[in-house]
Amino acid sequence: MDNENHMDLNDDEYVYNETYAEDDGDYEYYYEDPLISLFDVEKEYDNGSVRALNGVNLDIFEGEFVSIIGPSGSGKSTLLNMIGALDNPSRGEIYIDGINLQKEKDLSDFRRERIGFVFQLHNLIPNLSVMDNVQIPLLHTGMSSKDMKKRANELIAAVGLESKKRQKPNKLSGGERQRVAIARALVNNPSIILADEPTGSLDSKTGKMILNLLMEMHERYNVTLIIVTHDNDVANLAERTIKIKDGRVIEDKYNY
Ligand SMILES: Nc1ncnc2c1ncn2[C@@H]1O[C@H](COP(=O)(O)OP(=O)(O)OP(=O)(O)O)[C@@H](O)[C@H]1O
Ligand SMILES: [Mg+2]
Repeated sequence: MDNENHMDLNDDEYVYNETYAEDDGDYEYYYEDPLISLFDVEKEYDNGSVRALNGVNLDIFEGEFVSIIGPSGSGKSTLLNMIGALDNPSRGEIYIDGINLQKEKDLSDFRRERIGFVFQLHNLIPNLSVMDNVQIPLLHTGMSSKDMKKRANELIAAVGLESKKRQKPNKLSGGERQRVAIARALVNNPSIILADEPTGSLDSKTGKMILNLLMEMHERYNVTLIIVTHDNDVANLAERTIKIKDGRVIEDKYNY
């Protein structure tokens, strides 16, 4: 993020770090610009017969861990897809790190460099090994194949799948596939992780492990983590919970 706002402050009065926040006991005040901003975002499907998002305004700051909850069909996945630049809003604007997503012609580099997606349907490529699946986001980045392998190995180890790295996804359990998807989402050091029901189809033990993995990445690397979930316990682990209903934000609270 740019530090322009902070330049004229001297070091004594301003202990600067990238996610500077002052905790006065009740609230955290952020002095930086939001990482993600949505302005009056609307999304219609089927020529307007379905209104999935109905005027969403939202600021999310760098390094936040946010959960998104709401009934089925309320627009959660649609919202995540908009933030991840996978689809365009019908109206409104989305900024990420100062970039107006609607004004960019080609968002594929942006997605690859900045965003890690963990979706419930994994989107793993069936005929590629775990190792190759995890390296996908590194293709076309100019990284040498040796470095790509090294990086993929690190992430595969981090999710505890070293013994399975030559396997194809159809030989893995659902939880293992989810871990591959997380390794892939993190391999390019994204600044934002978007996870759509990452624990939805998993037993509670595996779900907890996946969640811990995501939270560890958030804590260790200050990754901005946004998780859609139906599970209130999962939602409450986040620092902030946003409730969506009928394509609108109906509640936005900090979980202290
Ligand atoms: N590609 C699409 N074409 C038409 N309608 C869609 C499309 N995607 C989503 N919708 C509709 O938009 C609304 C919001 O869908 P969305 O997938 O965002 O809900 P959700 O909150 O993620 O629900 P769930 O909890 O069931 O995953 C729903 O009414 C859905 O039927
Ligand atoms: Mg959904």
